[in-house]
Amino acid sequence: MTLPKRQIIMTCALPYANGPIHLGHMLEHIEADIYSRFQKMRGHECVFICADDTHGTPIMIKAREQGITPETLIGKSFTEHTADFKDFSIAFDHYGSTNSDENKKLCELFYERMKAKGHVHKKPIQQLYCDHDKMFLPDRFVKGTCPKCKTPDQYGDSCDVCGATYAPEDLINPGCSLCGTPPVKKASDHIFFRLNDFKQYLTEWLPKHTTPEISKKMMEWFNEDLRDWDISRDEPYFGFGIPGEPGKFFYVWVDAPMGYVSALDQWAKKNGRKLEDFWAADSKAEIYHFIGKDIVYFHTLFWPALLKSADFKTPTAINVHGHVMVNGEKMSKSKGTFISARVYLNHLDPQYLRYYYATKINGTVNDLDLNFEDFTSRVNSDLVGKIVNLASRGAQMLTKKMDGVLSELDSAGAKILEQIRADAEKIAGFYDQRDFAKATTAIRELADQVNKYFDEKAPWKTLEANPEETKKVITTTLNAFRLLAIYLKPVMPVMADQVAQLLGEKSYQWSDLSTTLTNHKVNDYVHLASRIDPEKIKSMIEEQKTIYAAVEKPKAKAAVAPAATGSVSKSAAQAKIAAENEKPAEIEFEDFMKIDLRIAKIIEAEEIKEADKLLKIKVELAPGETKQIIAGIKAAYDPSKLLGRHVLVCTNLKPRKMKFGMSEGMILAAGDGGSDLFVLSPDTGAKAGSRVK
Ligand code: MSP
Ligand code: ZN
Repeated sequence: MTLPKRQIIMTCALPYANGPIHLGHMLEHIEADIYSRFQKMRGHECVFICADDTHGTPIMIKAREQGITPETLIGKSFTEHTADFKDFSIAFDHYGSTNSDENKKLCELFYERMKAKGHVHKKPIQQLYCDHDKMFLPDRFVKGTCPKCKTPDQYGDSCDVCGATYAPEDLINPGCSLCGTPPVKKASDHIFFRLNDFKQYLTEWLPKHTTPEISKKMMEWFNEDLRDWDISRDEPYFGFGIPGEPGKFFYVWVDAPMGYVSALDQWAKKNGRKLEDFWAADSKAEIYHFIGKDIVYFHTLFWPALLKSADFKTPTAINVHGHVMVNGEKMSKSKGTFISARVYLNHLDPQYLRYYYATKINGTVNDLDLNFEDFTSRVNSDLVGKIVNLASRGAQMLTKKMDGVLSELDSAGAKILEQIRADAEKIAGFYDQRDFAKATTAIRELADQVNKYFDEKAPWKTLEANPEETKKVITTTLNAFRLLAIYLKPVMPVMADQVAQLLGEKSYQWSDLSTTLTNHKVNDYVHLASRIDPEKIKSMIEEQKTIYAAVEKPKAKAAVAPAATGSVSKSAAQAKIAAENEKPAEIEFEDFMKIDLRIAKIIEAEEIKEADKLLKIKVELAPGETKQIIAGIKAAYDPSKLLGRHVLVCTNLKPRKMKFGMSEGMILAAGDGGSDLFVLSPDTGAKAGSRVK
């Protein structure tokens, strides 16, 4: 059976070049890689493209802080990212960078076309500007006190503690996050893309090219005119200059998706092909973008509109996945669960993560929990116990106790192989719909049947008395295992290649499912996979914690030195410490006595799952007299360790309503924050309720 050959272009979102690849990114890359490998195995032409996203303010600032050029910084990330992907067997056809000549030319071409059709216009806007750093400040580069819950040191777009969202100018005492200077408002001309010109087009496009869920969500914006999109940024900016607009640059979210096209262009040049064959408006190629749910807006509104405005083909579908959680919680740096791809690789086999994610990927936007207990048991009992075991038991008996050559099949054996093959199109359908959970379940169920057959036949018992029959059982088992390895190849490519080697065959295609190996020499068994030792998971998390601590601590320490010597402090941490080192004004004794400080006993403590920093604590001041306190000490304290402790509490702080409940006081602690926090305790003997004076 030959299938009509499809032409498929697929991409993953381009990872930012200012940080390492982590296990959240890996979900997307594993999902896309499985899909790409599957399509290739089926004989389709599939080109899998990605690149680093290299422009914008955060990258420019990070390079400045490290005293290197942005080009050096993105060069380092490129080396690290490509090594990580290779080691996870992510087989891109091309991995590029948005900082390329092809991408610059493409941005200029898009701009020229959209301008010629009147889709852009210029107008002045007011923005926060730092006179010291001589730059406009993106929201995330302004910090101040949250206007709602009054927590200091919050970003200009939203508060980490109460969850409020606001404009940077709404912050109380806003400051530039780089130098602390209060920003000023300043006007500047910006260039806008008239998204509303594409309202009609998008209204028709969305339901056809996104899922009903996403289309519905996006259509919520369509009750009113679609707002103009600001596509320019003022210098200094690391990016591409806008032609004819000195001092103005394309906003990073303009040249980033263009990177999909320009990276494909680089691939085409390398392979003697033409970009137009894939991305021209009338091309027959299918274009799929794999992205996370946080960037849907860019990919389902701006991106199709930009493509349309420049007469390029719009995507066939946007495939959206949810976010990776670890053990049911958001990935957290201080808990060591924000695991980088490299740290994972230092401890565990990348094929295991591929397998585990595959068992959970089902084409929906639901978040995916990387639960380490579940991970261990799925790998150990399903993958190693049910699947790999078939090969190790069968092949070792054949090569160690017999001559290593498979025999003919008997009719029972032929029937089992037919049963396995009967599921081929069903499994292919699951892969094609990106429902890898169903694909792996179907494969596991087949493995269960083969295991049952193997155990019933018990070849180890019949080996001496009836070697011929025994060989037939092994021939069936190894052929069955071979078919399962072909089915699993998109997920476990390294194992599938090892199996091909064991059986002296070429790397498998889907069409290899139709062959049976009889009277065939089998090579010596090579070990395919071993069980996960849970200690490895612990040591991985420990390593990640250590890395995080090593990055965070020097930041805080380094900050003290320049402030103390009077030189200009540069980072946010520096600004914060400088502020803390300033001596507060003197107060009268009466002022001090206004603060009702008391000893209290912690009688309940629990973490607030939805918040990174918060614990909910109940303290007792006298029998029956309790207060609830929401304290930002989660990174430093395990709630169970706090139970029964005597602490110092300010009891007359005005109660504050927070997102997670009332906070009726404050537990005193010292330190820089994060995991560097130390709750204060009285000497032994102090009783709950007694006043601190
Ligand atoms: N640079 C932009 C994308 C530009 S595409 C033209 C970006 N980069 S990113 O590095 O922040 O994210 C890259 C992809 O990884 C996104 O699709 C994002 O959703 C995904 N993930 C990042 N963290 C994730 C999890 N914790 N879980 C799953 N995917 C997540 O956005
Ligand atoms: Zn500044």
